[in-house]
Amino acid sequence: MQNQIKKAVIPAAGLGTRFLPATKTVPKELLPIVDIPTILLIAEEAVQAGIEDIILVSGRQKSAIEDLFDISVELEQLLETKGEMHRLDRVKKLRDSANFISIRQKQALGLGHAVNTAYPIIGNQAFAVLLGDEIMVPKSADENVTLQLAKGFAEFGASCVSMMAVPKDQVSKYGILKGEMVKDEVMKVEDVVEKPAADKAPSNWALPGRYVFSGQLFDHLKNLKPGRGGEIQLTDGMTAIAQSEGLFAQTFSAKRYDAGDKLGYLKAQIEFGLDHPETAEGLKSYLKDLSTRLGAN
Ligand code: G1P
Repeated sequence: MQNQIKKAVIPAAGLGTRFLPATKTVPKELLPIVDIPTILLIAEEAVQAGIEDIILVSGRQKSAIEDLFDISVELEQLLETKGEMHRLDRVKKLRDSANFISIRQKQALGLGHAVNTAYPIIGNQAFAVLLGDEIMVPKSADENVTLQLAKGFAEFGASCVSMMAVPKDQVSKYGILKGEMVKDEVMKVEDVVEKPAADKAPSNWALPGRYVFSGQLFDHLKNLKPGRGGEIQLTDGMTAIAQSEGLFAQTFSAKRYDAGDKLGYLKAQIEFGLDHPETAEGLKSYLKDLSTRLGAN
């Protein structure tokens, strides 16, 4: 089935406070996983799912994100002269396979507000949202999480988001879903609660940061009052859509790394390092040695 969803929003306007001081001058979405900026991996997921227009919602101090997807004339000429263009091939290939449209969220008023910033570009079409610091690595092209959501959107005829089961002590880090399982691994959502306390959570089904919404989401977002933390929450918009047009959630099999979290970021570095031709061998033998040392303690 062809993906009908052609536009995706990557919210990347957050201040990255969890990674200070690194993120004082470098946007967290540009922190590299070995040698690839996180946001490049996320944009690749979108393109591999058939997305054609990628809307980057950025903020002040974040123009380096726009530059990543732009041509760098001097650098490209230099690399070409030296015969080292392969160093930029990945970003160049991506740049040529999608339109990158940048818009700024002028005030940090929450994720729902950031997504709503893309309304003038998207209008009433259905679209995907991929959070800028979560990396999904599918085992095969079919398991691309955004593609699976686009298929879910076509199948259910309604907005469709990813869900994952988390341990009870983690629910307060995520949007948490309430609803009814309508078939294996698919929930019809009734309510979404942003970061509930463990004893108040309606389930342990959490939102991992991949969504496909109908354009009607914008009608809800523009009317929202500030929710948890005084922010316009995407999860409140999702509750509104669940209680009107309908919202479904489905599980996924891709491996997820939360690169917005220090430990998640380190894990991603190690696993990508084990796959990278220039680091795989050396890292493997280092890890073996390290595990012997740790085992000895
Ligand atoms: C955001 C969303 C939350 C979602 C999470 C996924 O929270 O508000 O609903 O579960 O991303 O990572 P943040 O991690 O930005 O605090």
